[in-house]
Amino acid sequence: MQRRDLLQWAGVAAGLGWAGALQAGTVDGLGGVAARSGRDFGFSIAPGYANDEPVVSLLARHAGVITAENAMKWSAIEGFLGGRNFAPADAVAAKAARLGAKLRGHTLAWHQMVPARLAVATSADFVKAQTAHLRELATRYAGRIHTWDVLNEVVNPDDKRSDGLRESVLSRLWGGERYPELFELARAADPQAKLAYNEYGLEQDEPWCEQRRRATLRMLEQWLQRKTPIDVLGFQAHLDLSRKFSPEKLLRYFDEVSYLGLTVQITELDVRDAQFVGDIEACDAAVAALYQEFVQACMSHPAVEMLVMWNVTDADTWVNRARQGQRRADGAPMRPTLFDIEGKPKPAFAATLQSLAKASTPFAKHAQRG
Ligand code: G3I
Repeated sequence: MQRRDLLQWAGVAAGLGWAGALQAGTVDGLGGVAARSGRDFGFSIAPGYANDEPVVSLLARHAGVITAENAMKWSAIEGFLGGRNFAPADAVAAKAARLGAKLRGHTLAWHQMVPARLAVATSADFVKAQTAHLRELATRYAGRIHTWDVLNEVVNPDDKRSDGLRESVLSRLWGGERYPELFELARAADPQAKLAYNEYGLEQDEPWCEQRRRATLRMLEQWLQRKTPIDVLGFQAHLDLSRKFSPEKLLRYFDEVSYLGLTVQITELDVRDAQFVGDIEACDAAVAALYQEFVQACMSHPAVEMLVMWNVTDADTWVNRARQGQRRADGAPMRPTLFDIEGKPKPAFAATLQSLAKASTPFAKHAQRG
């Protein structure tokens, strides 16, 4: 099976070029290949670039899941002047439906993208506003969302709290001990959706990642003791070439997460090369090697049910946008996705396809809700 995909892709690519192979529609895309082991594969999108080529064709070919990159965030819905604008979020939901793709909701609560008016609210006013926002958003898309990120990025051991939680507008005004209530509200508003906690910095082999893994697990254990309705731990997986990676450590952590009864979704995968020194070929090879190791590890674990890329091509990736984190010293744009700025598959595409196709272990469907 694995060889078949690669040979098909290699054969078609040799005849038509990679772009031609993508257009030709003669072989399964990434979503189709992932589905063979019972898993979903997809991308986050923003309404703007998702309606232009090459992204339109890439999504049609490869997307089994769609996440709204920003459109379902609180301050994207509620502008400075008040009022609620769901048009961009509706457009993403409609796009997923047209593609026949599952829809991930991102995100019902987060310390970023909180409407400015609430930064100075009283705790009571914040709780009222967050509750109303969550209910309206989750109810609007009820029945259409496969998984909601209910809560995003609340763990931060660097803040030195005894509970490992992040100091933020959310911990201050909603209250860290009340986070489970967000999941209860989400379950009540959309009983069909799986409910996820989504976090970054859990994947690589660095001491600070290990601290984040421990703190996240402790928090999840406490939530589950309180019977919090949570189904999934989302691993953002914004990987970085400059950090070490240990498949064994990641797989052991997946074991720990699945012992809690949770499934795993990879929710925002990309690979940053800000510190990589070398030409484009060397950089692409290094990025591809990390994709290969990471995706292969994920596909070998029965708790991993979904893998979503953050953005589609190197032209639309968030890492090259103004004011979004590290830059490369040589000023060159980063190349973190599977497709170059023209939408042509890079070595990372072949590495990911190969790893999805090799999936030795199917997703354990018995762990799924409903
Ligand atoms: O919508 C406004 C626009 O009106 C304004 O003119 C423009 C000027 O800067 O800003 C626009 O908002 C920006 C928004 O993206 C939409 O483009 C925000 O400034 C910008 O901060 C925001 O960045 C997003 C970031 O989350 C914060 O929400 C990135 O695009 C998005 O890729 C990133 O995604 C996050 C995940 O949600 C959570 N995990 C990490 C990941 C990467 O940081």
